Amino acid sequence: MLALFALSPASASEESELSLIKKNAMPAGTEARGAIDAPDDVSWKTVLSQKSDKDEPLIISGAVFQADGKTPAPNVLIYFYHTDSDGYYGRKGEVRHGHFRGWLLTDEQGRYEISTIKPAPYPNRTEAAHIHMTFTGKNFREDSIDAILFEGDKFITQQERDAAGKKGGFDPILKLEKGADGILRGVRNVQLRKP
Ligand SMILES: [Fe+2]
Repeated sequence: MLALFALSPASASEESELSLIKKNAMPAGTEARGAIDAPDDVSWKTVLSQKSDKDEPLIISGAVFQADGKTPAPNVLIYFYHTDSDGYYGRKGEVRHGHFRGWLLTDEQGRYEISTIKPAPYPNRTEAAHIHMTFTGKNFREDSIDAILFEGDKFITQQERDAAGKKGGFDPILKLEKGADGILRGVRNVQLRKP
């Protein structure tokens, strides 16, 4: 009984932490925003399971830092979404931003990890494959940062290379490495803007 009793205040405070952060989410329906839909059980890791045989499994990990680029930023809500491996977010009538979307809350060391599949460029377009991410905190409103791109993508423009790191710091163009387990891995660290 004592253990149960001791657990309740902790989960209640975590819940209120998330609801405080969600107060800074952009309104539902705003383009490229999704923090508002974060589930209550959000963790620092998330797995998207809609993998089919032709998809390449991908793990993106990283850490979020304060504006100094060094101090870890815990409890930052990350929303991400990307296309499937044919370049589609979803078909008409499906959930906004498609099936490949998720939420994370950075841990005490600012870390996060996404297990997903590698997206593809939009069909019949010349935009590089990418993963969109928005960041929301208790003290700052939801905003998007430079999308994750993948080194070697022929559609990456010089303009994108020149602008890399302007929104979110570090390098958003990831060099993926395939492990012995067949999983592609990349690291995307993020630097928050000065308040
Ligand atoms: Fe996109």
